[in-house]
Amino acid sequence: MMRTQVAIVGGGPSGLLLSQLLDRQGIDTIVLERKTKDYVLGRIRAGILEVGFVELMREAGVGARMDAESYIHDGTIISYGDEQFGINFKDHTGTSVVVYGQTEVTRDLYDARESAGGKIEFNTENVVIHDAKTDAPFITYSVGGDPRHIDCDFVAGCDGFHGISRKTIPDHVRREYEKVYPFGWLGILSETPPVDDELIYANSEHGFALCSMRNANLSRYYIQCSLSDSVEDWTDDAFWAELKRRIPKSAVEKLVTGPSIEKSIAPLRSFVTEPMRWGRLFLCGDAAHIVPPTGAKGLNTAASDIHYLYRGLLQYYQDKDTSGIDAYSDRALARIWKAERFSWWMTNLLHRYPDQTEFDLKMQRADLEFLRSNKEAQSVMAQNYVGLPY
Ligand code: APR
Ligand code: PHB
Repeated sequence: MMRTQVAIVGGGPSGLLLSQLLDRQGIDTIVLERKTKDYVLGRIRAGILEVGFVELMREAGVGARMDAESYIHDGTIISYGDEQFGINFKDHTGTSVVVYGQTEVTRDLYDARESAGGKIEFNTENVVIHDAKTDAPFITYSVGGDPRHIDCDFVAGCDGFHGISRKTIPDHVRREYEKVYPFGWLGILSETPPVDDELIYANSEHGFALCSMRNANLSRYYIQCSLSDSVEDWTDDAFWAELKRRIPKSAVEKLVTGPSIEKSIAPLRSFVTEPMRWGRLFLCGDAAHIVPPTGAKGLNTAASDIHYLYRGLLQYYQDKDTSGIDAYSDRALARIWKAERFSWWMTNLLHRYPDQTEFDLKMQRADLEFLRSNKEAQSVMAQNYVGLPY
């Protein structure tokens, strides 16, 4: 039998960041992770960090490598047809975004937890959250068939979209909102220099494409694909050929291709669950909400949840004040819905839908032309892209 103050289910970026922040304030945590560390670090996700997230990483004492190795992006490029234009975040908002892979964020968090002697249990099976509506919640699980039990004050459900935390909230309390998009993103990582200093988001008649990057010799490219496609259907050559059909001519000329070192397909989904708190259980990150990757808000929405929950728990432990944890769900959701709207809008703006009519295409083009020609529209885009205030 073990006891901790905050039991954290899930050792992805949400769970690790919360654990790291709380630990630095002397609040004890245990993280339960279903997989191994190598497995978690093998997942390739987006690489755009909002300033709020960057500050939270620094506050958690894990900003050093990020500050040294990341790239600051003051703007982005959007292309459609033969048109292309830039949106400068800095001019419109005074801030920028930071390019640093989620894999690196997660690695830094694991390193920090390990050097602080943080408790992380890997390979946990059958995690069950009990009595979340009482003052004495507990968790049962097993590792290699050996049953375990943790008593705690609070449970943070940071176990991603497929986790068990969300489902612990009874059906009659929980309300879910979902939109599934009729296409996926095929992504590759290649050890080639990025095609441009900035990201290029491309709307083309052949579908969406994105040119992104990790560092000076590591590029990340995506193309919209059919949901019935599998990775085996796409050779590297086929990928590069299709990417070239979709990005601006000037980029095609500069594009350096090479073998892929990772290739994967991700479906696109918008999803929110309400409420994000049930008794002493708090949902954070992908456990509570999913955005399509257009705009790179996945990790950043997880970060604002952690910000609100961390501050709420600190108030509780330091001042016996429950107002922060009581407001958690409403505060987190207020920001989440705006990020959901932005990701949904950007997805609609840039993709080809199987059932799009001529009218729909005209609307999309009008939206793009308005954005290209209107400073205020660019300002709205920039404010959302760099991240709304916490
Ligand atoms: N018990 C323990 N751990 C679990 C369980 C379970 N029943 N179910 C899932 N997990 C673990 C997963 O193995 C994963 O490592 O919870 C972790 C959840 O991590 P993420 O899915 O990365 O979610 P989160 O930490 O909220 O990160 C949000 O990261 O994953 C991206 O797209 C996501 O960018 C978003 C951000
Ligand atoms: C990425 O670099 O993986 C990336 C960047 C921007 C996005 C999505 C993904 O909108």
